[in-house]
Amino acid sequence: MKNLTSETLRQLYLKFFADKGHKIIPSASLIPENDPTVLFTTAGMHPLVPYLLGEKHPEGKRLTDVQKCVRTGDIDEVGDSSHCTFFEMMGNWSLGDYFKEEMIPWSFEFLTSPKYLGIPVKDIAVTCFAGDSDCPKDEESAKIWQKCGILPENIYFLPKSGNWWGPAGTTGPCGPDTEMHIIRNHAAADKLNAYQFDDAPSGTFLEIWNDVFMQYNKTAEGKYEPLKQRNVDTGMGLERTLCILNGKSSVYETDIFEGAIAKIEELTSHTYDESDEVTRAFRVVLDHVRTATFMIGDVKGIVPSNTDQGYILRRIIRRAVRFGRNIGLPQGALKEVSATFVKKYAEVYPELKTNSAHIYEELEKEETKFSKTLQQGIKEFEKVIATLPAGGTIDGVTAFHLYDTYGFPVEITNEMAREKGLGVDVKGYEAAYAEHQAKSRAGSEQKFACGLADHKEETTNLHTATHLLHAALKKVCSPDIEQKGSNITEERLRFDFNFARKLTPEEVAEVERLINEQIALDIPVVMKEMSLEEAKAQGFTGLFESKYGERVKTYSIGEFSKEICGGPHAEHTGLLGTFKIAKQENVSAGVKRIKAILVK
Ligand code: ALA
Repeated sequence: MKNLTSETLRQLYLKFFADKGHKIIPSASLIPENDPTVLFTTAGMHPLVPYLLGEKHPEGKRLTDVQKCVRTGDIDEVGDSSHCTFFEMMGNWSLGDYFKEEMIPWSFEFLTSPKYLGIPVKDIAVTCFAGDSDCPKDEESAKIWQKCGILPENIYFLPKSGNWWGPAGTTGPCGPDTEMHIIRNHAAADKLNAYQFDDAPSGTFLEIWNDVFMQYNKTAEGKYEPLKQRNVDTGMGLERTLCILNGKSSVYETDIFEGAIAKIEELTSHTYDESDEVTRAFRVVLDHVRTATFMIGDVKGIVPSNTDQGYILRRIIRRAVRFGRNIGLPQGALKEVSATFVKKYAEVYPELKTNSAHIYEELEKEETKFSKTLQQGIKEFEKVIATLPAGGTIDGVTAFHLYDTYGFPVEITNEMAREKGLGVDVKGYEAAYAEHQAKSRAGSEQKFACGLADHKEETTNLHTATHLLHAALKKVCSPDIEQKGSNITEERLRFDFNFARKLTPEEVAEVERLINEQIALDIPVVMKEMSLEEAKAQGFTGLFESKYGERVKTYSIGEFSKEICGGPHAEHTGLLGTFKIAKQENVSAGVKRIKAILVK
């Protein structure tokens, strides 16, 4: 096996597939476009879903990339040797082009050739789909692997739970996969028959790569329909692969974290591997600061808030602050740790460098805010648990008080409680939270997150202006225009949409004129709840790939604008002032951005 750095591994992967006729495409944003079902991009295939379903990709049928991903299901596990919330996934795609016959031999070549990863063939195990009533056993993949040279005893079969890719429970492209693993414990592996892969003691196998043969579309009724085209979707985790190839026991010991570890050591009186507890604190800070850096520094960057993506960001920054304090990380240190990542990734993700001042400012702001209440909150927490019996539970109202007054996300309270062998009544917390929300009239209006930073009057007015802008762009530029992203603060709106070029001065003037005309007419903004089907039938625009049967809120501004949206909005357009386009920007080849303001 080769001693590779992250930089070399990325290049090696991309070049391998470029040499096989693939176009290298840049990583998409961490924030999914127009997808209300997930908060972050969780796999390389995620931004490519429309193309896997048959839309034509401008770069062709063979693509490869290294995609920034965030998975937030196991935040509390971060601190052990393997969990990370952020990771890079190397991948390649066939969009209705090659299939198993080409993909498996390429995987074999990349893994085993001394020119690439150089892993001994005898150390590789593969798993294939065992078959069920939806899809037959994947004998074909097993045969191809064997022809390549994989030993028959190292080929295993697993059911849907193990060898099937498809976002569980939701609709979309999916199919059987074949996974590649490094055998770490041959003695244990030798005892297994072809169907006992999952019975191996942990650590016997380490997964390195996954080839998905995407040939079905899971419908809303749970049926598997054959897709128009057969695709390949593969995913190889960069950090994990580096860790395996370099014989490290943890992803945190790869070159990616070297600079950041040195920085934390310099800022505290501790060393990374001093004790289990210290190592855990280092890892929490390392992972969470890296993730926060990427979230804030993204082209569609987010900032800490109390909802959706912003809440996750807030939660991980605060968790980093809490663990950082345990090793004496001084206040203001997060931005210094962040700077080591900005430097490390400068070439690959230049957006981090471009946005570095903003990243450091947001980290600093959130750290300061939480630091102010952290000590007091811990005191309060200790007072509360002193009254509880062993194995007791912190009630929901108290957990909400810790959040509302001291800024402790309930997940952090829960983790702190667990450390003391206690629990939290999370349902009770949610009830207390909902009651508070109802009182402050924020409601649960964030279902279709509209990118509002807050619910101030100025922000709400700009949200209504965003709907007018969307409608005006459709009329002036193209009926095909769709929202690709929206971010609204009290000062300005930012609207991303699919369009090949910037608007001409004439188009800008016409869009402004149409919107100001609607404002002058002082039209009421009318909210109506209805089923998604009904909304679609009545011509409301929105996100129709979400679940049917669902009730949605719709907002109409006369006949001019009709959108499915969570609100909130101005009551009538006359409140808005004068609409003005302040700036146009290029987001990507097919996506443009408009920043606009309302002048009183
Ligand atoms: N989409 C597949 C995965 O993420 C390749 O494992």
